[in-house]
Amino acid sequence: MPKQPKYKHYIWELPVRINHWTNVFAIVVLGVTGFFIGSPYSFGGSASDFTMGWLRFIHFVAAYLFAVSVVSRVIWSLIGNKYASWREFFPFATSNGRKKMVKMLRYYMFLDRKVPETFGHNPMATTAYIMLFGLYTLMILTGFALYAQHAPGGLMYRSLGFMYAIFSSQGLRLTHHLGLWLIGGFIINHVYSAVLMDIKEHDGEISSIFSGYKYRIKKPE
Ligand code: HEM
Ligand code: HEM
Repeated sequence: MPKQPKYKHYIWELPVRINHWTNVFAIVVLGVTGFFIGSPYSFGGSASDFTMGWLRFIHFVAAYLFAVSVVSRVIWSLIGNKYASWREFFPFATSNGRKKMVKMLRYYMFLDRKVPETFGHNPMATTAYIMLFGLYTLMILTGFALYAQHAPGGLMYRSLGFMYAIFSSQGLRLTHHLGLWLIGGFIINHVYSAVLMDIKEHDGEISSIFSGYKYRIKKPE
């Protein structure tokens, strides 16, 4: 019989939780509409059917929501609690963080049977999140660079001039499209890991991203 956790602690503040679910919503909308933009479909079968136009419009509205949400999370990483801090996302930069990563990696590789107890973020998860944030940045930059092409010479177009210097138009599109599948791969792994840790750690992992609370066996520092 595994030990039952005794301590309840507030980990994810409301802005972190709202941010998480806003991003999930925006990414699902962007992923579905983006998929159709990449593989257009004639819904009504007639030349006057505007469904693809609406899908593009929804993609752009969700894109602005997503960009604001990502920037808000970066700001919150400077002013939120220690679990939300930007420092959490670089566990590999400190020796303590590296030790925690090795322990978690050993568990993932079936070298250790006992799951290391983590309270805030899992250090392997934050390493994946920092790569995900890099991917978010790439999606926002390539997306707005594609978007700005409707008004060459405009402020957005000129601000993103460096993107056109790095990518061709087709390169922007291909990179933006590839991001859809990379984010899709992350989601499969992320939901699997969240369910696994919820079962193994008995810490209320899944409910924590709704309620903000996690449970643990040892008294929190
Ligand atoms: C998670 C984020 C996002 C995903 C998964 C996503 C996905 C996609 C996909 C798969 C395409 C089709 C690419 C192709 O094969 O031609 C696309 C097109 C596009 N996306 Fe995104 N996108 C995201 C974020 C954004 C953002 C932040 C913007 C910023 C405005 C944006 C603007 C555009 C534009 C302008 C197009 C081309 C539309 C067209 O040519 O009709 N996207 N997106
Ligand atoms: C588009 C889909 C999703 C993406 C991109 C995503 C991304 C993320 C990110 C970036 C974090 C870190 C939160 C932060 O510090 O800001 C996080 C945390 C978390 N997510 Fe998701 N998530 C997605 C869907 C889900 C779903 C469907 C679930 C539930 C089944 C879930 C459960 C969790 C949990 C439990 C945490 C906190 C645990 C931890 O980070 O150690 N996520 N997610």
